[in-house]
Amino acid sequence: MAVILDGKKLKEKILAQLKQKVEKLCAKPTLAVILAGDNPASKIYVNNKKKTAQNLGINSVVFEYPENVTEKEIIEKIDELNNNKSTTAILVQLPLPRGISAKNVIEKIAPEKDVDGFTPYNFGKLFSGEVPIVYPCTPKGILLLLDEYTIEIEGKHVVIVGRSNIVGRPLSQMMLNRNATVTVCHSRTKNLAEITKTADILVSAAGKNIIEEKMLKSGCVVVDVGIFKDENGKTRGDVDFENVSKIASYISPVPGGVGAMTIASLMLNTVELFEKQ
Ligand code: GUN
Repeated sequence: MAVILDGKKLKEKILAQLKQKVEKLCAKPTLAVILAGDNPASKIYVNNKKKTAQNLGINSVVFEYPENVTEKEIIEKIDELNNNKSTTAILVQLPLPRGISAKNVIEKIAPEKDVDGFTPYNFGKLFSGEVPIVYPCTPKGILLLLDEYTIEIEGKHVVIVGRSNIVGRPLSQMMLNRNATVTVCHSRTKNLAEITKTADILVSAAGKNIIEEKMLKSGCVVVDVGIFKDENGKTRGDVDFENVSKIASYISPVPGGVGAMTIASLMLNTVELFEKQ
């Protein structure tokens, strides 16, 4: 049976250390979150981020907008937050409502307040093999989790399913920086199973339940980034956990795996930005 990659436990360890660090800071970091639209999952995530920040002694303010908000209104808020000295970190929760370009919005965030590491400056640094101000939260959390269990990355074949700007693309670069051999698969990939069979480390960020035991090599490490409710209302990920955990060496659960690590990384990034300003 696979060892469980316990993101919840590692998150708690990281947050306990961070809380002590925040107590010693000369002032409190402030994380501003922009939440636009009615996406129920986004509301839950943002609430979670806010509560976690407050428990650490980090100020958190959420600016909520209705589904019919304009791009201009959001950009005006970003300009205001960029110019506000006491706001040290800015996060625009994705996805944005239909008709609003995430690219147009995100590129307005000042790179030194870009807590997701999504601005062209930070993405450009990452994709040119340089060091961004902070690394995107979910990929950072995945690497922290693998490192906690001393899972070797160098020389390993890492197969990433999903090419989003939030997970797949930045993770591919961070894995390359760690000297992995990286393959990125996506919805147009032919013979997905043939590729996933060769993975030493499989990261699935597809957002649908597609990873079955027969697609994997025995002993591989499986990281599940997916999170959604199945037809019975049960929270689950991309991976058939019950069967895959019989052949994998390590597996991350949903919930309690990568999702927990994303929050821990966001808090780490919030403090890192504060310290760099
Ligand atoms: N939506 C899902 N994951 C994320 C994330 O890491 N950052 C932001 N801003 N939005 C998200």
